[in-house]
Amino acid sequence: MCGIVGYIGPKNAYPILINGLKRLEYRGYDSAGIAIFQNNNIEVLKKKGKVAELEQFCESRNTYANIGIAHTRWATHGEPNDVNAHPHNSMNGLFTIIHNGIIENYEKLKKDLSAKGYHFYGQTDSEILANLIEYMYSEGDHINAEQAVRMALSRVVGAYGLVVMCKNEPDKLIAARKSSPLAIGIGSGEYYIASDATPIIEYTKSVVYLNDDDVAIISKDSFTLKTVQHDVELKPEVLQLELSIGEIEKNGFEHFMLKEIFEQPKTITDSFRGRIDPLTKEVVLGGLSNVMPRLLEARRIVIIACGTSWHAALIGEYLIEEYAQVPVEVEYASEYRYRKPIIRPDDVVLAISQSGETADTLAAIRLAKEKGALVLGICNVVGSSIARETDAGIYTHAGVEIGVASTKAFTAQVTVLTLLAMRLARKHQTIPDERYYSIINDLLSVPDKIEDILRNHLKIKEIAQKYYNSINSLYLGRGYLFPVALEGALKLKEISYIHAEGYAAGEMKHGPIALIDSNLPVIVVAAKDRYYEKIVSNIQEVKARKGNIIAVITEGDSNLRNMVEDIIEIPKSDDVVTPFLAIIPLQLLAYFIAVLRGCDVDQPRNLAKSVTVE
Ligand code: G6P
Repeated sequence: MCGIVGYIGPKNAYPILINGLKRLEYRGYDSAGIAIFQNNNIEVLKKKGKVAELEQFCESRNTYANIGIAHTRWATHGEPNDVNAHPHNSMNGLFTIIHNGIIENYEKLKKDLSAKGYHFYGQTDSEILANLIEYMYSEGDHINAEQAVRMALSRVVGAYGLVVMCKNEPDKLIAARKSSPLAIGIGSGEYYIASDATPIIEYTKSVVYLNDDDVAIISKDSFTLKTVQHDVELKPEVLQLELSIGEIEKNGFEHFMLKEIFEQPKTITDSFRGRIDPLTKEVVLGGLSNVMPRLLEARRIVIIACGTSWHAALIGEYLIEEYAQVPVEVEYASEYRYRKPIIRPDDVVLAISQSGETADTLAAIRLAKEKGALVLGICNVVGSSIARETDAGIYTHAGVEIGVASTKAFTAQVTVLTLLAMRLARKHQTIPDERYYSIINDLLSVPDKIEDILRNHLKIKEIAQKYYNSINSLYLGRGYLFPVALEGALKLKEISYIHAEGYAAGEMKHGPIALIDSNLPVIVVAAKDRYYEKIVSNIQEVKARKGNIIAVITEGDSNLRNMVEDIIEIPKSDDVVTPFLAIIPLQLLAYFIAVLRGCDVDQPRNLAKSVTVE
C-alpha cells in the first residue's frame, strides 16, 4: 500500500526520494509525488501513474534540495489522479503532508473545517489532516509546527504513518505513527524516513521504528521523540537492520517473483534452521518456550489470517488437528474481528502474516487479547506490528518478499506450521515415534526436492504457452492439497487477471462442474497421497465433460500421465510435505502465464503487498 520516504541532511534529497519510491513500488500504488524545500518554499510535484512518470515530469525542473518527502499512494478516498496524489498542501500552503492509513473521522473534521472557512481541492482524508494541522497552528497562541501536529493528531480517529513539512520551519520534518509503520534511519548528520526499511538500507543500518502515538521531530543533526499526548522526550530504541541490499535487488532475475520462487530451497532451510535438533530431531521453537505450558492447555487454536497466509493457515489446521489432536479453526481476520466471535481465555489465537502489518489481522489480535486469549504470531517481517503486539511467536525467516504475489513467505509459513504441529504432537504424545521421525526426515529433504522441480521449470513454461489466452480456470485438490489448489488459483488471478477458482475436488459436483467444457483448463493437484483414488475419480468426471486437465502428479505415475492433457511431475514424498512441492509448479505456471500476457508481475494492478487499511 502507500509508501513514504523522507530525507533531511546535506545531500541532494531528490535522488534519495525517487530511489526510495522505486524501492517501495512493490507495495502497490497508483500515483506518486514529492515535496521539497526550495528557497523557503515548498515545491510539490505529483503525478498519477508510476514513479517513472513522476521522474519524467520532474526532469525539466530544478529539483535540488536538502530536505524533502515523497509518497506512493494506493487510493482509498478519492480516485487515483494528480490532485488526490500526495503530498497535500494545506489551504494556505503552510503545511505539506504525506500520509499512509485512513482518517476515520475525516467527514466530521472536514465539516468542522469547512465551517471555519477551509476549502479542499481533492477528495482525500489526508488533505483534511493537512488543514487540521494548519488550523491548529493558525488558531493557537505561539504554537509551533510540532505542537500543531500533536494537537491535530489528538483529534484524529484512525491510522496514520505521516511526515509533515511546515513552510515556516524549513529546517525540520515531523513524523508520526499510529498503526501504520514508519522507520527513521540514522546517518551522520542526516536522517532518512520510510514506511519500511527498503529505502533506507543502502544508506544506514541504524534505525528507530516508531511506536503507536510516537511523534518524531527531525532536523539535520538532531532527532527528538515524543508522543501525541505527552510533551516529554523519550529515549529512542536504535536497532541494527539485518537486511542486505542484495535481498532487495533482482540479482539477474527478470522479476522479483521469479527470484523469490527460486529462493525457496534456501528460505525453507532458513525457516527450519536451528529449529530441529540435529541429534535428537526434536523441534525447538525458542519463541514459544515461555508460553508453551499455556499453549499445551489450549482447548482450541484459532488461526486468523488474510490472503495467502490464510491458505497456509488451512494447511496448519489439517496438520495440528491430525497430529496434535487439538481442535483448530481458521478464520478470515476481516470476518473474525466483526462477527462477535466467542473467545475464551483458554483459547489460543494464532495470527499469520507475512508483513505483520495487515490491518484486519492486527485488529483481530487486539480483540483476542482484550478477551484474554493467548495471542501468538507467525510473521515474516521482524519488528512488525503483529510481531510486537503478540504475546509470543515464530518468525518465518523467509527474507524480504518484494513480489506482491506471495511465494516464499507461503512455504516458510507452512514450514513453521509443520514444525509447530510436530512440536505440539510430541508434547501431547499424539504421534508415534516412527511417524514423527519419518515426517521430520521428509521435511528436511524438501529443499532438494524443490531444486529438482525448479530445474524443470521450462516444461511449465511450455504448458503456460498453451493456456495463457484462457479467461477462466479451475483448480482442484483434496486434503493437504486443497489449500494448495486455493493458493494456486490465487496466484494466477492475482498476477495474470485470469479468473481462477480454487475448489475442494469433492465439492466440484456441487457447482463448478457446470463450468466444465473444452475451453476450461482444470488444474488438478493429484499427488499419490491418501486421497489419490478419490482425485482420480474427479479427474474422470472432468474428462467426461471435455475439460483440459493439467495435473500435478507424483513422479512415475503412468496411470494419470495417460489420462490428462498435461502433467507436471513432483518428487514422491510424505503427504505432509507434498504441499511444499505441489505449490512450486503452480507458482511457476501463474508466473509464466502472467509474463506471456504482458502483465506487470511484481506490481499487479489494484493489489498491495501490505494491506494496512481494513
Ligand atoms: C495482501 C497481499 C497478499 C497477502 C495478504 C495478507 O493481499 O497481496 O500477498 O497474502 O495481503 O498479507 P499478510 O502480510 O498479512 O500475510
